[in-house]
Order: sequence, then structure tokens, then C-alpha cells
Amino acid sequence: MRLKDKVAIVTGGSQGIGKAICEAFAREGAKVAVVNRTAEKGEAVAGAINAGGGAAKAFPCDVSKKSGVDAMVENVVAEYGTVDILVANAGIMINKKVEEYSEEEWDRTIDINLKGNFLLSQALIPVMKKKKYGKLIFMASIAGTHAFPNALPYCASKGGLVMITKALAAEIAKDGINVNCISPGNTATPLNQHLQDDPEFVKLMASYTPTGRAYISTEEMAGAAVFLASDEASAVHGLDMIVDDGWCAM
Ligand SMILES: NC(=O)c1ccc[n+]([C@@H]2O[C@H](COP(=O)([O-])OP(=O)(O)OC[C@H]3O[C@@H](n4cnc5c(N)ncnc54)[C@H](OP(=O)(O)O)[C@@H]3O)[C@@H](O)[C@H]2O)c1
Repeated sequence: MRLKDKVAIVTGGSQGIGKAICEAFAREGAKVAVVNRTAEKGEAVAGAINAGGGAAKAFPCDVSKKSGVDAMVENVVAEYGTVDILVANAGIMINKKVEEYSEEEWDRTIDINLKGNFLLSQALIPVMKKKKYGKLIFMASIAGTHAFPNALPYCASKGGLVMITKALAAEIAKDGINVNCISPGNTATPLNQHLQDDPEFVKLMASYTPTGRAYISTEEMAGAAVFLASDEASAVHGLDMIVDDGWCAM
């Protein structure tokens, strides 16, 4: 087991990529704090992990609110004694033409996708600095380094997150904390179920990858997270790990 007895917080753990990461971490021996806003969904993921012999508990929290993030981290430390790993994966995407976004939609995207990661880092770094050990893994996107139309706040938030990764790594690598991000390509999740159901769109997406696949599985994304969370990645700092079936290479 590569994460035996490590304590991991996974935000956005109730579905999609985050759920697969919770399950993979539990299989590797971690105690998993499943974080999202809807309590029942997080509890369902934690319940299934516990039923399968793993260890998990739901900690409902809106990552865009400082008071909620601070309380959630306190509760996880009270439950498990510490935190070794954060996978900051919660995120939203609103697709519109630039002139159609409301100020509220811009603020909501930036607050969840960018500010939330800053708040989580602020709450967790003191815990990790104290023991000179920690893994911060942010879920960015290829949209953070490659332009996509009709996703301006999303692209801006993910570009900012790639730079949060590098700036934090530069600041805290000396404290024994590895900071890295994963940039997924198109991954089949509830976020884009409506697009997976559209055969024309699937054909178009498949033409963008050298593998000819339209969608990566959530389990393949979880494999990247397990590697970055493990001690096999002890010398990896400030990496934007692109897991995109070769989309960006094309
Ligand atoms: N799927 C892709 O193709 C793809 C590609 C590139 C990057 N990504 C990134 O990967 C991450 C996960 O994507 P996904 O496709 O798995 O998305 P998803 O299926 O929509 O899941 C999003 C998760 O985030 C949680 N969440 C949303 N807002 C939150 C908030 N304010 N506080 C706490 N939790 C919140 C949701 O639960 P609640 O609603 O209950 O809070 C849910 O668990 C995102 O950051 C996304 O940008 C995805």
C-alpha cells in the first residue's frame, strides 16, 4: 500500500474525478476525508469505502468560504490527528460567450476554482510545516495553459491555479511539502455527461487526441493523484502533470 495510514482530504470527493481519487487513496491505505457541499453525496462515497474495508468520513464544506474551510480542517485534524495530503479538486465550469457572463458567475468561478485553493493551503500549511511533511495536489486543467473558447472565467481560474502551484512550491518545498497540480484533459464525469451523450461531440473530441479517445476515465486520473501523493514523488515540486491522452501534444 502506497499511502498506508496517511490522512488525505479530497475536495469535490462526492463524484467524478474526486470520487475516484477517494476510492484509490482508500485502496492504498489512506484515511480519507470526503469534502463537498452536499452532505448526503459525500456520506454515500464515505459509506461505500467503509463498507469495502477502507476508512473514510464525509466533511461537508463550501471551499470558497474561509470560515467553512478552517472549521473543516479543524474537524479533520480532530478526527484523524493530522493531515498529510490535500487533493484540492472541487471545481465548477460555466460555458458562455464572454459578453454573457454575469459578475456573479465570474466571482463564483474564481471563488471556488481559485480562492478556495488559497484558503485550503492557508489552513493546511501550518499543520504540514509543523511536521515537515505534506503533499498539496491541485486539480487544474489543460484549459489553464491552452485556450478554450466560451470558458473565460474557467480558463483564467485554472491558469491562476497552475501559477499557485509553482509559487507555493517555490515558497514551501524547503518545509518538506510537495506542491504539484494535475491538468486533466477531457474526463468522463457528471460535469460533462450531457456532452458524452452527444455522438457528434464525442466524435469531435476523439479527433483531438492521438489515441482517438474522446474521454479519459476517472480511474486514470486517480492514478496520477496516487503517484503525486506517494513518497515515490518526493523530488517532484511545482509540476503541472498533464494527463490528457496527448491532446496538448497535438
Ligand atoms: N471532467 C473533466 O473533463 C475535467 C477536465 C479538466 C479539469 N477538470 C477539473 O477536475 C475537477 C473535478 O471535475 P469533475 O469533472 O470530477 O467535476 P464534477 O463531476 O462536477 O464534480 C465536482 C465536485 O466538486 C464539488 N464542489 C463543487 N463546488 C464546490 C464547493 N464550492 N465546495 C466544495 N465542493 C464543491 C461537487 O460537489 P457538491 O456540488 O456537492 O459541492 C463535486 O463533488 C474540477 O476542478 C474540474 O475543473 C475536469
